[in-house]
Amino acid sequence: MRTIALGNQGLGVPVVGLGCMGMSDFYGTSDTKDNLKVLDRAYELGCTFWDTADIYGPFRNETLLGQALTGRREAITLATKFGIRRDASGAWLGVSGHPDYVKASCEASLKRLNTDYIDLYYQHRVDPDVPVEDTVGAMAELVTEGKVKYLGLSEADSETLQRANKVHPISALQTEYSLWSREVEEDILPTCQQLGTGFVAYSPLGRGFLTGAIRERKDLQDGDWRLDNPRFQAAALQYNTALLEEIDRIAVSKNITSAQVALAWLLARKPDIAMIPGTRKVPYLEQNWQAMELDLSSEELNSLNQFSSDFVAMGERY
Ligand SMILES: NC(=O)c1ccc[n+]([C@@H]2O[C@H](COP(=O)([O-])OP(=O)(O)OC[C@H]3O[C@@H](n4cnc5c(N)ncnc54)[C@H](OP(=O)(O)O)[C@@H]3O)[C@@H](O)[C@H]2O)c1
Repeated sequence: MRTIALGNQGLGVPVVGLGCMGMSDFYGTSDTKDNLKVLDRAYELGCTFWDTADIYGPFRNETLLGQALTGRREAITLATKFGIRRDASGAWLGVSGHPDYVKASCEASLKRLNTDYIDLYYQHRVDPDVPVEDTVGAMAELVTEGKVKYLGLSEADSETLQRANKVHPISALQTEYSLWSREVEEDILPTCQQLGTGFVAYSPLGRGFLTGAIRERKDLQDGDWRLDNPRFQAAALQYNTALLEEIDRIAVSKNITSAQVALAWLLARKPDIAMIPGTRKVPYLEQNWQAMELDLSSEELNSLNQFSSDFVAMGERY
């Protein structure tokens, strides 16, 4: 197993963690029993860096993880997030980084997660109306109170990350990073390195696209959030298939899966980042976990690097 330290504060995690969002939201329906099987298997494998957020479900994903943590809390590095507001019906209510909201969100998450501490607590989205110093100040109080161990931000820009880090060390920044989303390479990753902030790549499989399992819109269930995402519109899917073909070519030649190529590329790209591929299926979890042991040759890496630098994915990330 490959582990890394996220940031300079001693947060050690396996480089391949588990994104739990899709178990409760956004990517179609799933069954609690199956989800618990995936979480049990992840525990058995040592894939113990679990990622959730209060809004996934909404709220049901944290409850699911609370169930799965029973009897093994200490073995899991639990990451959750606050800051995007939704009600129980799923309606979107904007963002909040207000200190009172930070405290109330943490209490509610602790209850749903059935635990008395969160290992890594992220602000999910920066609130443009509340100085990040105020938000992180409240998050730092949670650390002092023992409710949270490490702090993180998600999708923050470099300047915000630097300001936040002056209030309290930010152990991790979580942002999208994959073969079709390489924007962070320009400015974000160098800033993380300079500050000693770890980086966690979300949607490392391009929300499933880079696995080759979603080639057409009909491959998605009715109600799947991706049907409204710009990159999953028919023309974009067709255009973006050029990247998939290059990934598939390498996968076939190595007798591994496209998902494994996408993760192995990310693992080779930056030795000091973690990734949290999401899945609701045990065989996918096992495949993704095994990607840690795979090496791509320098020719394969060069080809993927070249191709994905020249290629500009059609469609915004959101
Ligand atoms: N901070 C943020 O704003 C933010 C935003 C998005 C996501 N996240 C976090 O990042 C995690 C991962 O991102 P994500 O779930 O959006 O995208 P992802 O990990 O890039 O892709 C997930 C999709 O890939 C499929 N998949 C996984 N492994 C596969 C394999 N080996 N072969 C074929 N298909 C495979 C999954 O299918 P099945 O579900 O059918 O297994 C699912 O449709 C989330 O769970 C969440 O915790 C954070």
